[in-house]
Amino acid sequence: MATRLTEGVLTSNVHLIRWVEKMADLCQPDRVHWIDGSDAENEWLCQQLVEAGTFTKLNQKLWPGCYYARSSPNDVARVEDRTFICSLSKDNAGPTNNWEDPYVMRRKLKELFRGSMRGRTMYVLPYSMGPIGSPMSQIGVQLTDSAYAVVNMRIMARVGKPVFEQIDKNTQRVVPCLHSVGAPLAPGEQDVPWPQNDTKYIVHFPETREIWSYGSGYGGNALLGKKCFALRIASNIARDEGWMAEHMLILGLESPPNKEGQTEKTYVAAAFPSACGKTNFAMMVPPAGFEGWKVRCVGDDIAWIRPDENGQLRAINPEAGFFGVAPGTSVKTNPNAMATLARNTIFTNVALTPEGGVWWEGMTDKPPADCLDWRGQHWTPEIAKQTGRTAAHPNGRFTAPAQQCPVFDHEAWNAPIGVPISAFLFGGRRATTMPLVFQAFNWSSGVYVGATMGSETTAAATGETGKVRRDPMAMLPFCGYHMGDYFRHWLRMQRRLSATPRVFHVNWFRRDADGNFLWPGFSENMRVLKWIVDRIRGRAQGKETPIGWTPYYEDMNWNGLNLPPSKFDELQAVDRDAWRREVIGHEELFLLLHDHLPAEMIYERELLICRL
Ligand code: GTP
Ligand code: SPV
Ligand code: MN
Repeated sequence: MATRLTEGVLTSNVHLIRWVEKMADLCQPDRVHWIDGSDAENEWLCQQLVEAGTFTKLNQKLWPGCYYARSSPNDVARVEDRTFICSLSKDNAGPTNNWEDPYVMRRKLKELFRGSMRGRTMYVLPYSMGPIGSPMSQIGVQLTDSAYAVVNMRIMARVGKPVFEQIDKNTQRVVPCLHSVGAPLAPGEQDVPWPQNDTKYIVHFPETREIWSYGSGYGGNALLGKKCFALRIASNIARDEGWMAEHMLILGLESPPNKEGQTEKTYVAAAFPSACGKTNFAMMVPPAGFEGWKVRCVGDDIAWIRPDENGQLRAINPEAGFFGVAPGTSVKTNPNAMATLARNTIFTNVALTPEGGVWWEGMTDKPPADCLDWRGQHWTPEIAKQTGRTAAHPNGRFTAPAQQCPVFDHEAWNAPIGVPISAFLFGGRRATTMPLVFQAFNWSSGVYVGATMGSETTAAATGETGKVRRDPMAMLPFCGYHMGDYFRHWLRMQRRLSATPRVFHVNWFRRDADGNFLWPGFSENMRVLKWIVDRIRGRAQGKETPIGWTPYYEDMNWNGLNLPPSKFDELQAVDRDAWRREVIGHEELFLLLHDHLPAEMIYERELLICRL
């Protein structure tokens, strides 16, 4: 039976309508609902999620507009081993991505999706990544049988009627995204909000710009505008069109006013791997000793960057919300995040307190006397001591509207052509070897620094945590084509620029011999950012080392922090033996990418070895 959609259709675009009909034929949902994005519709969806048991409405006095969800325990993070780049040639996907022949994969997926939405509603969710109608924005339509995905996407992107209106203008290509949690219902069977089995496929077709996601309801696997579109598909579009899609936060640092009352604003973008500090850095509160300085947040996860007609790189944050790591977030470490998530927020896989609130490790010094943990089991501090069970999953998340962030840069976020970027920061989670901060000598050495970045794995993806792996530009799980070609694209971007952004590497996670963090981090990272801005503006000295320029102790502002020079030396130490081992790690990555590796990377490595 061919589906003919008539009810509630919110577009006049026949291509879109035909595609929705075709997918409805395949997935056989009971209903098709076109998302208008209104408040009333959102309330209705949340109510349905409450009735289905997916959502718990939190105590509205304590947490207005907030909901609580637990996923199935086997669906708590991105699944990198189930994520595929199905380009026509395997070579194009490169050795760091899983690949399958697109024809084979399409056949497999069609079988999986056949009837997968039976008993459920298919939502047609249009979204714009970036300001609607901006030349830097892109449009997607996600078909999904998950109301959870819809209400999360509504926070994370611009959705609904205005996007359909943009689609109807027929000026922009639309990226089709099909998503199913993949648990077909028998007639009369109770809805299963989370997938119950391990069949998961997160699939990208770069040439046809399509996304098919099956079997997961969680975050980066299911909110398809985020990593699937804004990074894996967009990195392909960006390469073809001469721009960059990066796993980066964007922030603006504003100085106190000078005598004439003028302030100086500097925007930087920073790539740290998943769960390595982007959200925290993006909305940092300057510490004591930085009175009058302001950090303004433009984005916390993704940056789309392109040169303007003057050769200046400009960036937009294509998202509209934060999908942030909950554990470790507190009034002390990130007060702006705590203010952002105080209302209209969805919490997933954290603990539920008896008074209808949420809690996670690190939120307060004193844990609740008892609560339900992220699995729904009784939890007390005593039980935690005995079993080692945490109340929140380490990758428990909050989904919060970015506009609620007290230091959000609304104007910059809405600017169709974005903000000028003066520097790129790279940073991993490294217990050893990497100093607190250094500056690369120039663009190609900077690309090398980003390309060879290493970081300890975190709970943001399934698999072992705490293991150092190469994570080039924090894009290892997100680059939608061959990593060697991606490095070449970075190198070539410079030719289009009149002013080259400076490149820095930071590490907030270096530890002493006893395993304690050497650096207090969080607000104190401002001291490093200030040196970076002073370097960009030609005001600060740098000390030459084999790996790059590093700060002199005297060139950092230490007001309000007692950090003796000896500790700073420990933080900044460049251990030549450790670095020689580090460079072997670089070589392993380069061997993997050898047939697409730009020559510059090899020469940069040779130079580094010589300097060491
Ligand atoms: P994704 O959303 O996965 O891309 O992560 P992210 O890069 O935005 O990381 P986020 O800012 O959420 O931080 C992840 C974890 O690192 C949290 O538990 C933070 O508390 C912790 N963290 C962030 N910044 C610092 C820091 O400067 N020092 C230390 N020690 N921990 C930090
Ligand atoms: C990350 O893992 O880098 C995230 C969370 O930002 S997710 O949306 O799941 O990708
Ligand atoms: Mn991320």
